[in-house]
Amino acid sequence: MKLPSDADSSGRDLGQQELELLREVIESGTLNCTKGSQVNAFEKSFADRYSVPHARAVASGTAAVHTALNALMPEPCDEIITTPVTDMGALTPILYEQAIPVFADVDPVTLNITPESVAERITEHTRAIVVTHLFGNPCDLDGICEVARDHGLPVIEDCAQAFLAEHNGKLVGTVGDVGCFSLQQGKHMTTGEGGVVITSDDALARHMRLFSDKAWGYGDPQPDHYFLALNYRMTELQGAVANAQFAKLSGVVDRRRRTAAALTEALRGVPGLTLPEAAPGSTHVYWKYPLTVDAKVLEGGADALGAQLKSRGVFCVPRYIQKPAFMCQLFTERRTFGKSGLPYSRLADLGRPEVRYDEAEYPGTAQGLASVVVLPWNEAYTEEHVDFIAAAVKGAVTELSPTGTFTGAAAGETRA
Ligand SMILES: Cc1ncc(COP(=O)(O)O)c(C=O)c1O
Repeated sequence: MKLPSDADSSGRDLGQQELELLREVIESGTLNCTKGSQVNAFEKSFADRYSVPHARAVASGTAAVHTALNALMPEPCDEIITTPVTDMGALTPILYEQAIPVFADVDPVTLNITPESVAERITEHTRAIVVTHLFGNPCDLDGICEVARDHGLPVIEDCAQAFLAEHNGKLVGTVGDVGCFSLQQGKHMTTGEGGVVITSDDALARHMRLFSDKAWGYGDPQPDHYFLALNYRMTELQGAVANAQFAKLSGVVDRRRRTAAALTEALRGVPGLTLPEAAPGSTHVYWKYPLTVDAKVLEGGADALGAQLKSRGVFCVPRYIQKPAFMCQLFTERRTFGKSGLPYSRLADLGRPEVRYDEAEYPGTAQGLASVVVLPWNEAYTEEHVDFIAAAVKGAVTELSPTGTFTGAAAGETRA
């Protein structure tokens, strides 16, 4: 069975509504958001849905995180606490701001940072905390915000994978100071590339609008380019697709949640697996469906389960990003601005110790990445797709369990 994929039309709902709005844009001759109406309308709908006064559409999720960080105006070498298990687009903006990423360890099952791991990393140089709600599962946001409040620190929520997820009755993205979203090809809604930032803070909103538009004060009595900034504007073409996609978002999230719940029911009790479920009070929106594999129960652990699933026609990614983000060359070789090694190389001048990222300090990250198998998830999955995936997982578990301990009887699977 071929499962729908978010890489093509089998798993993307792009059609008549998008085409109609695109036609309007093309016929208007205005492809630029400063003069057009689509991006404006999208920003208004997004802000309304999230019950916040401000949303700004930008060019990508990376641009969204950069825009949010810039609005906090970190000084060079300020520290930003974040997670080593996220997309690189959530991390490079920290370096572009000449700030130092400080990584908090993650919980080995959710792969999210925790209030405790964040608190451990706070120093006199900490300027902000950036959380990622990984795979669509909200982190302990209230706990992290409490730690942040105790230290007077702002929180940026990276919701690239967590559209319409909730934490204690609030949409994630509205609990911290700024929420960031990605509209890249594989997200809950897509414009190919794109992003959004939201906030309730008027000053942050103004700064973010300026930063994403070369800091030119459109509409001001005496406009100028007020500060160093980029062009991160979204085009009207993307805005048209965004409006059509946004109208479908609730349905997408509902369908993903319903089919994920069906898989969870089908796999409940299967030995050696921890299934992805949100903490009480939170909702998981299943950008992906991660399985945590106990290598003491299933021989060969996540890698073996991944190989088994692939051999049964279920694509998956054991170990997710493979290694903590700080093990990438960017960080290990400090490949930043020319050969300067900035911002790290400046720490000595400030009388501060060198920063070294040591894998040994991240046991939760090591354990979590070693034991996760990430299944793609999609709003186009049907009951039959879920049954197929469940049967493949049970068959794989049967194969990897000590003889006779699990037979996958419910799915009619037997040891090969
Ligand atoms: C958690 C997270 N943050 C940031 C990004 C960066 O978004 P983009 O690829 O749109 O720049 C992504 C994208 O994949 C992501 O998953």
